[in-house]
Amino acid sequence: MTTLRITDGVIKDEVLVLGLASSSSKTGLVIESGDLSIDTKSILASLVEMGATGNADEVIKVPGATVRMLVFTGLGKKASSYSPEVLRRAAGAASRALNGLTGATFALPTDSLNSVAAVAEGAALGAYVFSEFKGSSKSEHKAAIKSITVFSKLAQSSEAKPAIARARIIADYTFLVRDLINTPPSHLTPDSFSKKLIAAVKTAGGAKAGLKVSVLDEKELKTQGFGGIIGVGQGSANPPRLLHISYNPKSAKKRFAFVGKGITFDTGGLNLKPGLGMEAMKSDMSGAAAVCAATLAIAALKLPIAIETWAPLAENMPSDKATRPSDIITIFGGKTIEVLNPDAEGRLVLADGLVKAQSSKNKLDGIIDVATLTGAQVIALGTRTSAVMTNSQEFSSEFLTACAESGEQFWPMPLPQELRASLDSPVADMANIGDKSGGMLVAGLFLKEFVAPELPWLHLDIAGPAFNTAAAHGYTPVGGTGVALRSLVVLAEMA
Ligand code: BES
Ligand code: MN
Ligand code: ZN
Repeated sequence: MTTLRITDGVIKDEVLVLGLASSSSKTGLVIESGDLSIDTKSILASLVEMGATGNADEVIKVPGATVRMLVFTGLGKKASSYSPEVLRRAAGAASRALNGLTGATFALPTDSLNSVAAVAEGAALGAYVFSEFKGSSKSEHKAAIKSITVFSKLAQSSEAKPAIARARIIADYTFLVRDLINTPPSHLTPDSFSKKLIAAVKTAGGAKAGLKVSVLDEKELKTQGFGGIIGVGQGSANPPRLLHISYNPKSAKKRFAFVGKGITFDTGGLNLKPGLGMEAMKSDMSGAAAVCAATLAIAALKLPIAIETWAPLAENMPSDKATRPSDIITIFGGKTIEVLNPDAEGRLVLADGLVKAQSSKNKLDGIIDVATLTGAQVIALGTRTSAVMTNSQEFSSEFLTACAESGEQFWPMPLPQELRASLDSPVADMANIGDKSGGMLVAGLFLKEFVAPELPWLHLDIAGPAFNTAAAHGYTPVGGTGVALRSLVVLAEMA
């Protein structure tokens, strides 16, 4: 794990990371070294000759004089103050380019503690490498940079150290999400997901940290009436689980429930998906990973907010045991569902999770589900913007405020009542699919049926952003991204 620190003193690293912005100056470029004063004239001239632009995601390495290597990372247009997300991405793009190295000092513009935190967070998030399954080629696979130092005159501020510690926690638990997503279904089943989280809870301090974890196995799920989880998981040799993690700090001001979709692999079941791109469905447990890791991060930050987290885990497989189109299942609590399409499985396991989450005697102040729920989400918003649906405009705006701070792109989507009738079934209480048009909203309307109308609820569809199949950018690697964790943490910090 990369060590994070902050300094305003002597630079000890061999690598120095500086910002580069485009400007209206003669050269069109400006070096942004924050609180570090350096002579930039000659370097600037060579950068211009090299065709540098200072655009976001441009990272240029050049040999240095007093240090071995200078790394310029693009900040976009010159500004008197850079937004935290611009700094996060620039720092992340740089640290992604530093694999295999020992240490780098990041001298980027940090005019506030907020920007110190952003540089630290971005740099830490970019220093991620997933090499668990590299075998004979492992030695050629460079590890992430060993140490990152943020250079800022705010280093001596009493809030600097906590900001660095927070960045480390955010990155640690984002890495847990990414690792879980990147782990293939051969090595991540509902059972092994549960075991990994039991271990993570223990590492996080367990009961001493206010954390508890429990798991229901397939027998308990069956006898207790979790028809959604059983129905989705019954086609697989890897039986389903319901994982429950709770964080109960002594002086909790509020209590939230998180529910995350945990399909360890989604083949589509008997409605088998096309082969092309099916491998990305190892990421169909991203919601579960995000809510579990967010809970641990909230505990690590000792936030005074109680969290009850539920991860319904199942593998959606075709077999002679699999749920057939037209089968009727009974969700926990009694609603019956006609499964017209076994590939619309996420909503079935989430329905069980949502009802269970509301069954505890502890009063909830809000409930949030996180899921890679629909292909329609990707069509509507692309691969970098997630959707928020809700029964409470107030809760939704609170969350969007948190997103503006976390830097995660979420966008509000409606739940139009007129689409609800398309989910009617002639034989059961509801069908699991409805209108194709507005498929993301129809899925949201399905889930809404399982939430008490007076309980503020958010449905986060992260289908596109959870798993990056394109090139790495900013602090976002290829593969699992960890999206939703940071916004959930900020929401808990604001509550
Ligand atoms: N896991 C998929 C949704 C998905 C698609 C996530 C692409 C990430 C990228 C989900 O279980 C699914 O298959 N949804 C169906 C629902 C449909 C049958 C109503 C879909 O979106 O096609
Ligand atoms: Mn599916
Ligand atoms: Zn799915």
